[in-house]
Amino acid sequence: MRFTFLIIAFITIVSGLDNGLGRTPPMGWNTWNHFQCQVNEQLLKDSADAMIELGFYKAGYKYLNLDDCWEGHRDENGYITTDPITFPGGIKALADYAHEKGLLFGIYSDAGRLTCARRIGSLGYEDKDAQRYAEWGVDFLKYDNCHNDGSPEIQRYVKMRDALNRTGRPIFYSICEWGKSKPFLWGRAVGNRYWRTTLDIRATWASIISIIQKQQMITKYAGPGGWNDPDMLQIGNGQLTLEEQRSHFSLWAALKSPLLLGFDIRNPPVEAKAIALNEEIIAINQDPLGLSVSIVQRTRFFDIWTGPLSDGYVAVLFNRGEIPVVITLYFASHCNLEGEIAVRDLWEHADKGNFTTRFVLLSNFLFVFFFF
Ligand code: GLA
Repeated sequence: MRFTFLIIAFITIVSGLDNGLGRTPPMGWNTWNHFQCQVNEQLLKDSADAMIELGFYKAGYKYLNLDDCWEGHRDENGYITTDPITFPGGIKALADYAHEKGLLFGIYSDAGRLTCARRIGSLGYEDKDAQRYAEWGVDFLKYDNCHNDGSPEIQRYVKMRDALNRTGRPIFYSICEWGKSKPFLWGRAVGNRYWRTTLDIRATWASIISIIQKQQMITKYAGPGGWNDPDMLQIGNGQLTLEEQRSHFSLWAALKSPLLLGFDIRNPPVEAKAIALNEEIIAINQDPLGLSVSIVQRTRFFDIWTGPLSDGYVAVLFNRGEIPVVITLYFASHCNLEGEIAVRDLWEHADKGNFTTRFVLLSNFLFVFFFF
C-alpha cells in the first residue's frame, strides 16, 4: 500500500510594498545631518529651489526629505498635525511645492510612542498617519525606532508597511531601526526598501570608517528593490578633508547606498558640491545591475572592494591611512577578469590605459580610485 503524504505548510508570505519603487538606490537631500530640529517651511522651500537651480535635481537627486521635528500633536480624531509655528502652511503645501518642481517629497516618523527628538510617533496610529501622508502627497517615509514598546521590530515595521500599502499611494518605505534586528534579512520583504544597517553617522572620519567596516559582511543583501543604508551622507559637514569626503562618497556609491545629501544645499560647500555632482560616480550607484561591491582584500593599510556593473567592473582602491601605500589590483583574483583591461579613474575623469594581469597604484594619502 502506498501512502501519499500531503504536507500542508503554513507559510506566512511577507509581501513587500509592491509599488515598483527603488530599482536603483534613491537619491535626494535630507534635513537631519545639517539642521537636526532647526527646520521650517522656508528652509524646505529654499532647499527645493536650490536642488533645481544648482543642478542637483538634474544629476539625479529627486527626494526632498524632511526628517524629524515637523510634528505637532494628535487632534481629537487621532490624526497627526503639523507644528503650527515652523510649518504653518502644513505638509501638503510643501509637498505640492516640491512636486511642482518635479521633486518627490519625503517625511519622517517613528515606530514608537515618540520620535527620537521626542515628537509624536506613529505606534498605534499607523493607519491614520499613513492615510494623512497619502492625502498630503508624501512620496517617501523614513520610519525610525525610538521610544518603542519593546515588541519585535519586524512586527512594528510590517504594520506600517501594511498601512502604507492600504493607502494605494506608492510611498517609498525607509526602515530606520539602525541594524538592531538584522534588517538586511527581512527588510527586502517588509520595506520598499532600504534599511539602516548601523547607528547614526557623524561628520567625523572615525564614524565613517567604523560604518564602512560594518558593511563588509552584508554587501550581498543589496540589490534592485532593496538596499543597505549605511546612513545619510556627511560630505560638506564637519571638518572632513577633501580625500575623506571623496572616499565617503565613493564607498557609499559603490555599496549601492541611498545617496541622501546632508549639507546646507542652499549654500553648498564648493568641494562637497563638486563631489555630489560627479556624474561618473553617480552612474556607479545608479547602475541598473544594482550589485554592491564586496571586499576582496583587506590589509593593515588598505582595502580593495570590487564588483560587477552592467557594462564593466568597478574597483575601489582604498588607502585607509595617511601614509603613501602601493595598492595592486589583480584582475583575475580581485575581479575575475581576464585579458586586456581598460582602466579609468572616475575622480580624475581620465583613462589610465590598457593593462593585463594587474594595475598598480601608488596612493599618496587616504584616497579612493575607481576603475572599470
Ligand atoms: C534617529 C535617526 C536619525 C534621525 C534622528 C531624528 O537618531 O537614526 O537619522 O532621523 O533620529 O530624531
